[in-house]
Amino acid sequence: MAPSTTVSSGPGSASAIGIRTAIVPAAGLGTRFLPTTKAVPKELFPVVDTPGIEYVAREAAEAGAKRLVIVTSPGKDAVAQYFQPQPELEETLERRGKTELLAKVRVAPGLLAVETAIQDEPLGLGHAVSCAEPNLEPEDEAVAVLLPDDLVLPTGVLGRMAGIRARYGGTVLCAFDIPRAEISPYGVFDVEDTDDPDVKKVNGMVEKPAPEDAPSTYAAAGRYLLDRAVFGALKRITPGAGGELQLTDAIAMLIAEGHSVHVVVHRGGRHDLGNPGGFLRAAVDFALVDPEYGPDLREWLRGRVEE
Ligand code: G1P
Repeated sequence: MAPSTTVSSGPGSASAIGIRTAIVPAAGLGTRFLPTTKAVPKELFPVVDTPGIEYVAREAAEAGAKRLVIVTSPGKDAVAQYFQPQPELEETLERRGKTELLAKVRVAPGLLAVETAIQDEPLGLGHAVSCAEPNLEPEDEAVAVLLPDDLVLPTGVLGRMAGIRARYGGTVLCAFDIPRAEISPYGVFDVEDTDDPDVKKVNGMVEKPAPEDAPSTYAAAGRYLLDRAVFGALKRITPGAGGELQLTDAIAMLIAEGHSVHVVVHRGGRHDLGNPGGFLRAAVDFALVDPEYGPDLREWLRGRVEE
């Protein structure tokens, strides 16, 4: 086919490939971290010294996103505030010659433009994502959604997902392969092979199935590149698993209507920051490679585990 000089909005065009806007749903009550979440949003808990949501924002920025829409709930203003510059603090650090700390506090405000959308009631992930629709711009043909509970490591999967959208169009998600016995907390894909072993075509998706009902062992890993058509489906879904409006059900609806959905299978690591056990594991994992805290912690852990 001859190269076209007209601007196309098809799946191969720059605007369809690029990720401009990322949505981070952060409106949850954090019940698994009560009592702390009475006062501190879990997205701000430090993995060593940096809140989980900063890692997720860094990942979105690295994938090319210019805007981050944080969906929060009343009382969780601190999450968006974290991304605001703090001139007084910066001045103090500067005066004291604390250049490393100064660099650290400047990272989050410098990553991308942050705005908020409010989810007034905890009606589910699908509802949370739909709350960000008014923040979208006409150029947002697709949006990235990153769940801040999930750290997908090493980063870079969003870029691969954008490449798959460029090839097939539609919606692309990130999957990881887990033992069937552990599958029921997740959205699970019904998949078909493609010519790439790490890319599957999705023929269906089900939220939190019992292990024996799961259509595969490929689970949704909290990274989504959603065609804008998903917002139409989100208006039509009814409460699903747990009585909540599920993003999974909107994606399943799109598939049933002929929309193309693929997954990129992530073979790397993953941390679940959404519960104390997973959070501690992430904190230890990050601390062990930290030049300041790693060596001591390693030594102490060895002794402590042998006790
Ligand atoms: C959400 C999604 C689920 C996905 C999971 C990944 O579930 O609904 O499809 O597999 O995140 O962490 P939640 O953890 O909010 O129950």
